[in-house]
Amino acid sequence: VLDGFASYYEMELHQSAEALYDTVSALMDGNRAPVIDQLRIDAYELARVRKVVIIGCGTSYHAGLVGRYLVEHLARVPVEVDVASEYRYRDPILDADTLVIGISQSGESLETITALRDCQVNGARTIAITNVIGSQLSRVADGVLYTRAGPEISVASTKTHLAQIGALAMFAIYLGEIKGTLYPDEAKRRRQELAEMAPLIRTTVEREGIWRGVVEQYLLLDRFFFIGRNLLYPVAMEGALKMKELSYIAAEAYPAGELKHGPIAMLDEQAVVVALLGDDRLHDKMLSNLEEVRARGAKLIVVAPDGDQSADDLADAVLRVPPCLALHAPLLMVLPLQVLAGWMAKVRGLDLDKPRNLAKTVTVE
Ligand code: M6R
Repeated sequence: VLDGFASYYEMELHQSAEALYDTVSALMDGNRAPVIDQLRIDAYELARVRKVVIIGCGTSYHAGLVGRYLVEHLARVPVEVDVASEYRYRDPILDADTLVIGISQSGESLETITALRDCQVNGARTIAITNVIGSQLSRVADGVLYTRAGPEISVASTKTHLAQIGALAMFAIYLGEIKGTLYPDEAKRRRQELAEMAPLIRTTVEREGIWRGVVEQYLLLDRFFFIGRNLLYPVAMEGALKMKELSYIAAEAYPAGELKHGPIAMLDEQAVVVALLGDDRLHDKMLSNLEEVRARGAKLIVVAPDGDQSADDLADAVLRVPPCLALHAPLLMVLPLQVLAGWMAKVRGLDLDKPRNLAKTVTVE
């Protein structure tokens, strides 16, 4: 059943490339838009959208945060993202020109379903992004974009997170086309680039043996901080969540620029900082954040693309991933963090598939 893996967590993590590819290719209609009948909201309605709201819980919320960058960058429509259980009680401002996207792997998280329903009552149009055909969320929403990650058994999500980002990227490209921020040729090229991330994801996961040698000595430490900037900040959040839920140790995520506004006081020789160094316009700012970390004596593990040696002198360890477009970096940079969280749990003898106190589907508020 487990295809040679010791847990569903590890097996599913290794299915990420297929999850992304199957999701993206199912949302392509030849060279054209996502499968329109599945979206059930026509291009005319989408052209009217003036604000997008994305809601979800946990890992799905983190995918939504990545989605914000994708939609704002590609379609130039303002996006709000919130945790579903908070959004509902914020007395949100919604109208018929607001499109709400509810993300839920299971499609059964009560908070996401009820928040989406409330948005409909307040006049908004809604789309579900879910991995489960016929789930409650898919039935409540006006339209659905399915992720096609296959069943996810492990409580801790892995492959479905990548599939969610893939679906959001496809949506962002489509909306960009409708809004006129992307020419059809560019939209086509961007869809192809997204599908081409699948082999890169596969080769990235295959590096886990190399990563292991690099971080082995840090696996028994128990105070971790994850930092990133821009669209790598949600990746840092996801890395911290994975570590907390699987190994039960303290792990916090911060936008790297925020460290000096408080959290840096916690850094000392016992702390490990995992930093995501993207190949983007914030690269140099990130490097100066890393120098701040280094000066406090914390251990520094940097995730960086091949060929980028700018942090090698500062870092205690570097985890390499293949280079890719900055916009797609979350799809690769999350992988070493998922792998690291799994090892942390393993060296502690913990159950990777069923962490304590957690359920795969949360149907209470
Ligand atoms: O099924 P959902 O995506 O709605 O679940 C939401 C969260 O409970 C879920 O993403 C959770 O945070 C992950 N399983 C953690 O790995």
